[in-house]
Amino acid sequence: MKAVAVVPAKKQVKLADHAEPTIDSPSQVKLRMLDVGVCGTDREICAFEYGTPPRGHDYLVIGHESLGEVVEVGPDVTRLKIGDLVVPMVRRPCPHDHCFACRENRQDFCYTGDFVERGIKEAHGFMTEFVVDDERYMHAVPRELREVAVLVEPLTIAEKAMMQVWQVQQRLPWACPVTPGKSAGHCHRAVVLGAGPVGLLGAMALVAADFDTYVYSRDPEGSPKANIVQSIGATFVASEEFTPAKLGERLGNIDVVYEAAGASRASFELLKFLGTNGVFIFTGVPGRKAPVEVDTDLIMRNLVLKNQVVYGTVNAGPEAFESAIRDLGQFMTRWPDALRTLITGRFPMDAYRDLLLGAPKGIKNVIAVG
Ligand code: BGC
Repeated sequence: MKAVAVVPAKKQVKLADHAEPTIDSPSQVKLRMLDVGVCGTDREICAFEYGTPPRGHDYLVIGHESLGEVVEVGPDVTRLKIGDLVVPMVRRPCPHDHCFACRENRQDFCYTGDFVERGIKEAHGFMTEFVVDDERYMHAVPRELREVAVLVEPLTIAEKAMMQVWQVQQRLPWACPVTPGKSAGHCHRAVVLGAGPVGLLGAMALVAADFDTYVYSRDPEGSPKANIVQSIGATFVASEEFTPAKLGERLGNIDVVYEAAGASRASFELLKFLGTNGVFIFTGVPGRKAPVEVDTDLIMRNLVLKNQVVYGTVNAGPEAFESAIRDLGQFMTRWPDALRTLITGRFPMDAYRDLLLGAPKGIKNVIAVG
């Protein structure tokens, strides 16, 4: 079968002939892949900055944001049946008994680093025709979400981040007064850094929780990304027009920053303007560039004197997948056009070169496999 793959040793990105997988354990499920999203991580893998083939293979099939349809189930499969739509998770647990996180099915918090990630680290991904995996790594999606379900995986990043925001802010038991018809964020202000798919989906999650949400981006006012931000009831702020200092001044106390740009300099600049009792969440994985100067005294003073919390978050657990599927359903009811315009193109597998190696274009591009 056809698959998009990288051969790191030869610095090649190619359409590979990959063996069709078969069910070989009773709890496995076989999927016919429908949609596979292209993201920054895939582009980095194709630039050979990231990504490792499975042991014994010289190539790695890429693709980790996906949607498939069940075509076959093993005899022990109980939750899924033929015809169901499914989003597979990305990370698989490490084998070590002492890794409590993996043993608890929370490989997103793996201690050893010996996890594998499908399409990224030592396991083939989903940019191919058929995939087999254990039922426990698959999440069923309602048919109504067929068009947009490929966005579930990037949304899980925000879902995991938000679960931790609520956990962290339990330290502020008075936070938002319970108000009928309002969600928990209604008295808080959040800034999303970056207007790519992870940022825009994060903004939707924040608006859905009633945060007063601002998206701070390098894109200009009036751009398609700015229009999406406005259409969901968030405020777009172009970094060309507002320095982080001016943004801080305009907004007042910034309660949450959701970083989704992978730009470390801009992030640490914005961290200086995080508010009292604020939370700053890093989700981006920047490439390694030359070191930059950071005002460490100011940042440390603020962290202490303003009770701030800074954390990073990677990948996502089963609960985040379930809540992403629920939230995507809500977004689809509330902002169908915004969600649809986030997917800027569907392309055949043969267009992989331009999508992965050409100049970045659009917002979320998808390879429509089936
Ligand atoms: C994926 C995550 C993965 C991370 C690090 C991201 O692009 O969405 O699932 O854990 O890359 O490899």
